[in-house]
Amino acid sequence: MRIRVINGPNLNMLGIREPDIYGRMTYDELCGLIRAHAASRSIEVDIRQSNHEGDLVDWIQQTYGRYDGIVINPGAYTHTSVALLDAVKAVGVPTVEVHISDVSSREEFRQISYIRSACVCTIAGRGVQGYLDAIDVLCGEV
Ligand code: DQA
Repeated sequence: MRIRVINGPNLNMLGIREPDIYGRMTYDELCGLIRAHAASRSIEVDIRQSNHEGDLVDWIQQTYGRYDGIVINPGAYTHTSVALLDAVKAVGVPTVEVHISDVSSREEFRQISYIRSACVCTIAGRGVQGYLDAIDVLCGEV
């Protein structure tokens, strides 16, 4: 089984960025955690991060016929991007939306998620554990 993990803008700043909201784990440490979890389940994992919306669209498109699942934290593009929604719908690859923080209890503008309707489920507010839970959801789905 192959899963691609896609992280959007500012997630490379984990550990530095608003630690009260996103915690103190760095992005590199998060990647290590995801790799170890995937290895423990014999899953091949590819982890990417970009601050640019088009990169995220390209990486979603590339999963077509090549990956069994996508875990995506689109960061702020969650609340703005129809292009990411369309890309997930285009490839039809089972996708889980992840947010480190509990977006439902934050600002009004974070209540909208364009990508959500194309996803198998949304995991929010579980911290970095959400990425591992998302992988487990895909294991059950695919
Ligand atoms: C986030 C929540 C988004 O609202 C925010 O823009 C992020 C991170 C999260 O993981 O909690 O960049 O996706």
